[in-house]
Amino acid sequence: MDRPHFLMTDPAAFDVSYRINPWMRPEAWSPALAAQARAGSRALKAALQAAGAHVETIGAVQGLPDLVFPANAAVVLDGRVLLARFRHPERRGEEAVFRAAFENLRARGLVDDLVELPEGLFHEGAGDAIWDADRRLFWCGFGPRSSREAVDVVGATFGQDTLALELVSDRFYHLDTCFCPLAGGKLLYYPAAFTAEAQATIRARIPATDRIEASDKEAAAFCVNAVNLDARVIMARAPDSLRRKLAAQGYALIQVDLDPFILSGGAAYCMTLRLDRASRPRTARTVAA
Ligand code: ARG
Repeated sequence: MDRPHFLMTDPAAFDVSYRINPWMRPEAWSPALAAQARAGSRALKAALQAAGAHVETIGAVQGLPDLVFPANAAVVLDGRVLLARFRHPERRGEEAVFRAAFENLRARGLVDDLVELPEGLFHEGAGDAIWDADRRLFWCGFGPRSSREAVDVVGATFGQDTLALELVSDRFYHLDTCFCPLAGGKLLYYPAAFTAEAQATIRARIPATDRIEASDKEAAAFCVNAVNLDARVIMARAPDSLRRKLAAQGYALIQVDLDPFILSGGAAYCMTLRLDRASRPRTARTVAA
């Protein structure tokens, strides 16, 4: 089996210096948090590697603190990369940096082609388009960041089914803050982040026995923003209640201290971007390490 490949970003230029979501409080930032962020990023990388993954790391760029969230850079499936367009001017400078990074990955054979989003649409990458490997479709968030019309672009770009889910809360502004499909078909999610219609879409597709609801406290600890590799779920420090819930369903929780990133409104899932997702189990795709 292929090794999972992830993209991460060196956190050397990370801070909280502007406010584009309610978690971000620039006044709470301190140099001590910068050191804690570097340690947290290293620990996350180590947890991924310990789970058998390979991690590519791109360099930090001064003035682009949120570059540490590569999940927002693109949607990637079957070697195709749909480049993001950010809603907020504060993050638009990241687009060229991520594009150059993907061109480099393409030159190395880690991805195959780069696709542009049509003008006038916003889409914040894998933060708002989550591949469900068990159901073979994209769950797509829209509202606070990504445009509704961009959901159809995701479907057409990858030739896959999509299910659009409208997000209602400015605290859970990307789908990945409140929705995490787990290997084997379970779903960890935070219902209050969704419109009634979106909740109905989720319930229609996923039976109650497969839905694991996160509490307010678990969601606010950014525990739904998790990386799942088989039975392992890697996430920010979690309330005990969640460890018990996941254990009861056969998943092992791996916790990393990501508090400085939570102050920016992100955690484990959005600090990574999975590069090797395939719509069908692969026979052989060789990737240069
Ligand atoms: N400060 C960043 C923003 O507001 C955090 C992004 C976190 N990414 C995510 N997919 N949840 O854009």
